[in-house]
Amino acid sequence: MNRELEWSGIEREILACTRCPLSKSRTRAVPGEGNLYSSVMLLGEAPGRSEDEEGRPFVGAAGRLLNKLIEEVGMRREEVFITNVVKCRPPNNREPSPEEILACSRFTDRIIELVNPKTIAALGNHAGYYLFELRGGARWLGVTRMRGRVYRLPVLGSARTLVPTYHPAAVLYNPQLYETVRDDFRLLKRVVEALEGGAGLLRFARPGGRED
Ligand code: URA
Repeated sequence: MNRELEWSGIEREILACTRCPLSKSRTRAVPGEGNLYSSVMLLGEAPGRSEDEEGRPFVGAAGRLLNKLIEEVGMRREEVFITNVVKCRPPNNREPSPEEILACSRFTDRIIELVNPKTIAALGNHAGYYLFELRGGARWLGVTRMRGRVYRLPVLGSARTLVPTYHPAAVLYNPQLYETVRDDFRLLKRVVEALEGGAGLLRFARPGGRED
C-alpha cells in the first residue's frame, strides 16, 4: 500500500476515534501533517485551541514560533512531518494524562512507522518521555537535562536519532529560552545534514550518561 493511502486510513481513524474522553470535548482531531517521506519528524504534545478549530498541528501562537525556528535554521515546514503524542485537545490546554497518551499511542506508533523518520525532534517532556521511556527503552531525565545532545535509540523497530528540546509553548512563557531552542534546532539541522551525508561526524549521547 502506498503511504498516501495508508495515511488517509490513519487520518480517517483518528478523526473518528472515541478511545478516550478527549473525543467528547474536541472540535476536530489533529492527526498531523507534512511530508510523508520526510526523514525528519517533529513530535509535539497535544493540540491547543487553534489546532482544535483548524484540525492542523501547530497553527496557533506556539505554531508561529515553531515556524520561525524551522525557517531560521534553514529548514522548511513542508519538508518535515509534524504530529503530537495526543491528537485531540485536552480541555483548557491542560497536560495530556498518561491514559490519553496511551489511548493515542496506537496512532502515534503507526505514524512513526509509516513516515519512518531517521530523526525525531522531541518537543517537550511528553514527547521526550514517549520516545525515550515508552518506546526507546531508555531513561528520560526531563527536557532540561536531555536537550542539547543527540541520542541514537531503537524506536519502533529502527535505530533513530533523537533530538530533544523544549516545547515552543515553553518559550512563549519564558522568552529567554528562545536562543536555547534555536541552538537545538540548529543541532537538528546539522544532524539531518550529517545523516544525509552518512552520519560520520555525529556524536551520540547515552541517556543519563556521558557522550561517547
Ligand atoms: N502544541 C502542541 O504540542 N501541538 C500543537 O499542535 C500545538 C501546540
